[in-house]
Amino acid sequence: MKITVIGTGYVGLVTGACLAELGNDVICYDINEEKIKLLNDGVSPIFEDGLESIIKKNLSSSRLHFSTNVIEAVHHGKVIFIAVGTPTTPSGAADLSQVEISAKNIGKWINEYKVIVNKSTVPVGTADKVKEIVQSQIDLVSINDSDSTQFTVLSNPEFLKEGCAVDDFMRPDRIILGIDPGQNANQAKDLMNRLYAPFNRHHERTLIMNVRSAEFTKYASNAMLATRISFMNELANLAEKINVDIESVRKGMGADPRIGYSFLYAGVGYGGSCFPKDIKALQNTANNHDLTLEILKSVEHVNEQQKKIMVQKILKRFGSDLKGNIFAVWGLAFKPNTDDMREAPSLKVIKGLLEHGARLRVYDPVSMQAAQRALRHELAEQTQLFEKIEFISHQYKVLEGAQALVIVTEWKEFKSPDFHLIRQTLKSPVIFDGRNLFEPEVMQERHFEYHGIGRHNSSAE
Ligand SMILES: NC(=O)c1ccc[n+]([C@@H]2O[C@H](COP(=O)([O-])OP(=O)(O)OC[C@H]3O[C@@H](n4cnc5c(N)ncnc54)[C@H](O)[C@@H]3O)[C@@H](O)[C@H]2O)c1
Repeated sequence: MKITVIGTGYVGLVTGACLAELGNDVICYDINEEKIKLLNDGVSPIFEDGLESIIKKNLSSSRLHFSTNVIEAVHHGKVIFIAVGTPTTPSGAADLSQVEISAKNIGKWINEYKVIVNKSTVPVGTADKVKEIVQSQIDLVSINDSDSTQFTVLSNPEFLKEGCAVDDFMRPDRIILGIDPGQNANQAKDLMNRLYAPFNRHHERTLIMNVRSAEFTKYASNAMLATRISFMNELANLAEKINVDIESVRKGMGADPRIGYSFLYAGVGYGGSCFPKDIKALQNTANNHDLTLEILKSVEHVNEQQKKIMVQKILKRFGSDLKGNIFAVWGLAFKPNTDDMREAPSLKVIKGLLEHGARLRVYDPVSMQAAQRALRHELAEQTQLFEKIEFISHQYKVLEGAQALVIVTEWKEFKSPDFHLIRQTLKSPVIFDGRNLFEPEVMQERHFEYHGIGRHNSSAE
């Protein structure tokens, strides 16, 4: 099938590459010329396991094309996915400008019946808005060829997780399709069912609902996941005070099938490009209808507080003036297996330590460049603080001269490190573990002073 994907970010690029891998003829369109050039050279601008090899393979078999030509892009796809960004505006609402421009472009250049699929995470009512914009462009041009003016707008939110995006896309647990009656709904449904048939071989994964419910399902899912994280973080802070081990509690809770184990890890708070902005956008929608989402308000507040927890622990241990102290940081990306730094908790941890006078040596397995850019931006008004960060591309060299190691992202290579080398290299054997990678008792046996989150027996809490 001929497919166009508008926007080649984490979602658009994975969608386009994976649909090409399944045999479709795909054009990925983006306004970022640098990105498109890289992609045409077979280089993935983002780090995502397995993605670059799929891009290379499908470029060479000519099933995948990258373009900055909007007319070619709109003409190509029978199905056009909109997968552009929907960042947060200062009011907390989703900024729909990229979606609106995409809709305008489709309406301007539409040449035959199209299924327009909103894959971006967008507030309820956005599909209607896209429909209006496309129609208004068609009306402007007022072509008399009826087939060229037909289209259907669907909602098909994406649930992939950065870090295993290709796998998630190829093996979705559900495909949500929001389709409203009328507007050639049956034709659109048939096309989408054909496109997604390879994912439904084992069992039917597609759930069809109305467009507004589909739009809402995405926000509701992210809100639930963020709630679980903040809930556990709040309990972890209490656990620490009353000598309870939150990891034991997590296992005890997770064994209940009604609860399950996922997203119950205490840590330094959630970040990334989705949870923070989606929680804000959902609250904004509620506010527009004179409602306050009390639970989500607290989820957000708890998360903001939790991002400060590592700094508080370090200040408690080393005193409020950190001048003369160097700390080593392992893990900068907002989660493992990605180079995405958007809203990464590491930004707040690093900024907090710098503001108290510390110097930092930082390391991440893949996001060193992205982290430099993100930290430069985070510290744009405090450039003297940025100068106090050394970016060291080596997991153990980064520890040299450091008073303590601070673990912020749970990359696999941090899970079974060379403890002997860590102890030898650090100035003092102190670890602040924002991801609870180790057992406090075992760390004591290894002669480390260990500070986890909500752990029984963590040192000097
Ligand atoms: N990142 C995730 O894990 C994830 C998961 C599920 C859903 N989502 C949602 O998917 C959407 C995209 O997220 P992302 O992380 O891929 O975003 P992104 O910022 O990584 O990518 C957006 C891309 O769109 C391009 N773009 C901007 N305006 C454009 C235009 N007018 N025409 C063509 N291209 C344009 C940008 O250049 C960029 O390459 C968001 O709504 C997000 O909430 C993201």
